[in-house]
Amino acid sequence: EIIYHLRGISGLQEQLKKKLQINSVYIVPGNIENDKYVLRDLSKTTSRILEGSLVENSIVGVTGGSTMAEVANEMTQQSKKRGIVVVPARGGLGKKVESQANTIAAVMANKLNGSYQLLHASDTMSQEAIESILQDPEIKKITDLIKQVNILVFGIGRSDKMAERRELSQEIIELLQSRRAVAEAFGHYFNRDGEIVHEMKTVGINLEDFCKVPTTIGVAGGPKKAEAIVAISKIKKDLILVTDEGATREILEKY
Ligand code: G3H
Repeated sequence: EIIYHLRGISGLQEQLKKKLQINSVYIVPGNIENDKYVLRDLSKTTSRILEGSLVENSIVGVTGGSTMAEVANEMTQQSKKRGIVVVPARGGLGKKVESQANTIAAVMANKLNGSYQLLHASDTMSQEAIESILQDPEIKKITDLIKQVNILVFGIGRSDKMAERRELSQEIIELLQSRRAVAEAFGHYFNRDGEIVHEMKTVGINLEDFCKVPTTIGVAGGPKKAEAIVAISKIKKDLILVTDEGATREILEKY
């Protein structure tokens, strides 16, 4: 039965790769929306992929969110020091300390026996404040380091949820709806075809640098994230996607 199940998953993997036209897809069985153990599997799988991608002195960028928080928790404690640096790839966001990119960077760095840097800036400040803080030498040190990230692990976000977390105005929320935004990454909002439909200044990694990162691991599960996954797969063809069966079936059936 287990073999049958695995075959089932590898069949889905091939179909999803073809559908999204990306080379690396990992799928865990189940649906995170109705089984909390599936989130753990998804996170464990992501952690193992990350651990397998690390080399001496890797610079790892991480984003925030509940999925990424779980990924950090599922990392294996390393005993050997390899000079790994973990840096938050985006600014502060939302009300929970556990899911801040800063917190996740610290948890991961400790697990990897490496070091971390903090980005002391909020992503929900006014555009003017963000413009000005980006000139600050302390912030610049971190944004320069973000540009050198070799491996980025990020949670794929839905546009509507991220608009809420970023505390956008009703006007912008309606604009995003009218432009059919489905995904958000680093202050950019994308429609299902991966076209940018709205853009905001943020303190973390920018889209241009994101596209240049050599190893990018995107993680998201559940049917509700399906459309966001489709959109993000369009903007980075060498994306390593880690998802669940729930999102996979939704993508294969609907998009
Ligand atoms: O940046 C965070 C992503 O948008 C995903 O957040 O893992 O809480 O759904 P989430």
